[in-house]
Amino acid sequence: MIIRSTWWPICATSIALCLTTVSARSDADDGEKLARRWCASCHLAAPDQRQASTDAPPFATIGRMPGFSREKLAFFLLAPHPKMPDMSLSRSEAADLADYIAKLGRTGP
Ligand code: HEC
Repeated sequence: MIIRSTWWPICATSIALCLTTVSARSDADDGEKLARRWCASCHLAAPDQRQASTDAPPFATIGRMPGFSREKLAFFLLAPHPKMPDMSLSRSEAADLADYIAKLGRTGP
């Protein structure tokens, strides 16, 4: 009994710690890497980026569009888009990018 009551809080804390670490290493960080690698040639993909093609909307703008949702965006990214090359993103890559763009929309460049 003593063992249980002493160890439980510690176990619970370390599980919580683990979970926080996992979510702190958030998908948005992976999304940012992907965005810089795959999208920056056309889009303003990060706040510190200066130049991009003129007809592709900056990601911060996309993240602020009315009706924007991570789910819709992730889905959009999985289907080829006429003006964009088909990048054959995986589901998790599309979700990471959507997370990242949603974050940009909240924080702005
Ligand atoms: C070759 C250039 C090019 C690349 C690379 C590119 N895009 Fe685009 N993207 C465009 C253009 C141009 C538009 C505007 C399309 C339009 O107006 O129909 C666009 C539009 C979009 C939109 C907005 C769609 C809407 O609803 O208006 C999203 C979201 C998007 N791109 C995400 C991405 C992501 C994420 C990547 C990287 C994985 C990427 N793009 C890579 C050219 C590109």
